[in-house]
Amino acid sequence: MSLFIVKKSGPLSGEVTLSGAKNAVLPILCACLLTDEQCVIKGVPPLSDVFILLDIIKKTGAKAEYNQITQEVTIKAEYTAGDMSEENEAVKMRASFLVMGPLLSRNGFVKLPLPGGCPIGSRPVDLHLKGFEKLGAKIKQEFGAAEAKASKLKGGHIYLDFPSVGATENIIMAAALSEGVTVIENAALEPEIMDLINFMNKMGAGVFCLGNGTIKVTGVKKLHGAEHTVIPDRIEAGTFMAAAAITNGDITIKNAVYGHIKPAAAKLEECGMCVENSPDGLRVYSVGKRKAFNIKTMPFPGFPTDMQAIFMSIMTIAKGTSMVTETVFENRFLQASEMKRMGADIKTDGRVAVVEGVKKLTGSKVKAPDLRAGAALIITALAAEGSTEIGDIYHIERGYSNIEQKLKALGADIQKVEEENKKEE
Ligand code: EPZ
Repeated sequence: MSLFIVKKSGPLSGEVTLSGAKNAVLPILCACLLTDEQCVIKGVPPLSDVFILLDIIKKTGAKAEYNQITQEVTIKAEYTAGDMSEENEAVKMRASFLVMGPLLSRNGFVKLPLPGGCPIGSRPVDLHLKGFEKLGAKIKQEFGAAEAKASKLKGGHIYLDFPSVGATENIIMAAALSEGVTVIENAALEPEIMDLINFMNKMGAGVFCLGNGTIKVTGVKKLHGAEHTVIPDRIEAGTFMAAAAITNGDITIKNAVYGHIKPAAAKLEECGMCVENSPDGLRVYSVGKRKAFNIKTMPFPGFPTDMQAIFMSIMTIAKGTSMVTETVFENRFLQASEMKRMGADIKTDGRVAVVEGVKKLTGSKVKAPDLRAGAALIITALAAEGSTEIGDIYHIERGYSNIEQKLKALGADIQKVEEENKKEE
């Protein structure tokens, strides 16, 4: 098993370039199934989630190639199967449920294993399935699989009880080839959804954001192939911003999109950092000691839940009492127990956490409980005396490509080692 060994690191400095956004790449790869023509997606990072999804896409019958040198994916879905219920890979990676909309659209039939929960929550898909029903599909759930059938999908009016990212994406993809107009109210508006919409409109779709959380989809008969470069990963940007904050650093993120990271920038300025956007990139630098601050996670444009654990790292050494309210997922404080092993002072109660800044963190043996909690442990370890050993880093590598090399280039003391080769200190 691989480990990250992270030592206390001086102020980070230098430049870093973000990879393509995982949460834009995954739905966009699924949208390639909406046409039988070739699509080329650029800026695709070599993540385990990407490899798993490409496997599932190939199992539908589509051709899919990934060039890791150019980071380009080519997909041509001349023929796609509908019954994927035996594909257990699909259970391993939740976002594979996003092939449901395209396959239902293309074949009028789709059957997929229901994605399980994950450490951060039960992750139901009821809003996805209710959306498909509103488009005229008959839904059946049995033996751990969800089946959707429709001779022809028709436009419908959908109100989402929660602005679910995945449900919004799946419904947009199902509505793209339906007859008539679909209106989705209380839709999610994350930048990754805007990127999906941009790609689908390049394919000839008619998807429009009407403002106040409403998305309109005018169904078309056919979609054609298209080329698209995905947006940079805003959560990766937040990760490097937090690394600069916890080490009193001064870094520049070359390709960050300022409009995507405003909540993170606002919180950094509250805790004693400066964030300056310029054509050369986003400069993030320390102007004094870290001060306590509060976070309440919300759907976009609120503070993103995916940055919650990462920003809690900063709170562990920020002077004063910080508070976190996690409104999106029911169990997203798994980083807290691991941070406490490093000397952090964190109390959690349901969806609220209170963090007392401490003068000193000390290195420890910890394990990544999930993707973003794992990234948060790396950030925390940068400020911990001595050395921290982070296990189960496969969680982290689902969402970050070469994170240790990128951090090392900024001056972080981080090594990736195999368990059997690690030297006992
Ligand atoms: C996407 O997950 C992201 N994943 C998540 O990022 C992100 O945390 C999340 O959106 C919220 O921004 C990808 O894009 C691949 P949701 P998704 O549907 O679509 C409830 C990461 O770290 N809900 O917006 O699964 C659900 O239980 C990952 O990169 C229903 O109740 O999130 C949750 O409480 C983690 N019924 C809330 O909505 C449904 O049918 C938000 O879920 C769907 C969701």
